[in-house]
Amino acid sequence: MTLKLTVNGQVREVAVPLNTPLLNVLRNDLALNGPKYGCGLGECGACSVLIDGMAARACVLPVSAAAGHDITTLDGLSQNGQLDPVQQAFIDAQAAQCGYCLNGMIITIRALLNHNAQPSPQQIRAALEHNLCRCGTHVEILQAAQRAVV
Ligand code: FES
Repeated sequence: MTLKLTVNGQVREVAVPLNTPLLNVLRNDLALNGPKYGCGLGECGACSVLIDGMAARACVLPVSAAAGHDITTLDGLSQNGQLDPVQQAFIDAQAAQCGYCLNGMIITIRALLNHNAQPSPQQIRAALEHNLCRCGTHVEILQAAQRAVV
């Protein structure tokens, strides 16, 4: 089955079974490696993408459910060579240890800021509650998220 997906502002065609996880399509068919495979169960957040500006877990989302929506991956956050302010904040705060979880952290904070430009520290914590960092750099990640609030 051929599907048209709008990914990072471009219409892309893929020929995959409708129940293929969106994450597999993004990584394997479209060579977009921003979203990471972590748990594959919708629990860690490493695979997060934006669907119409809201965070979604691409490992458990069938590709057919994403068709007709605007899909944004970490790869598509920067515009005209400029990093998204959330990406820049994570660099400035040196929030990464291994960095594997940061795709999901950045996407989740971008989604939060999309509908709440001035989240409280408690709201930031709540938004990141289900994004896991196995290195334990949660303090730096929270500081980075706070830096992204302007
Ligand atoms: Fe999707 Fe963990 S890989 S939530």
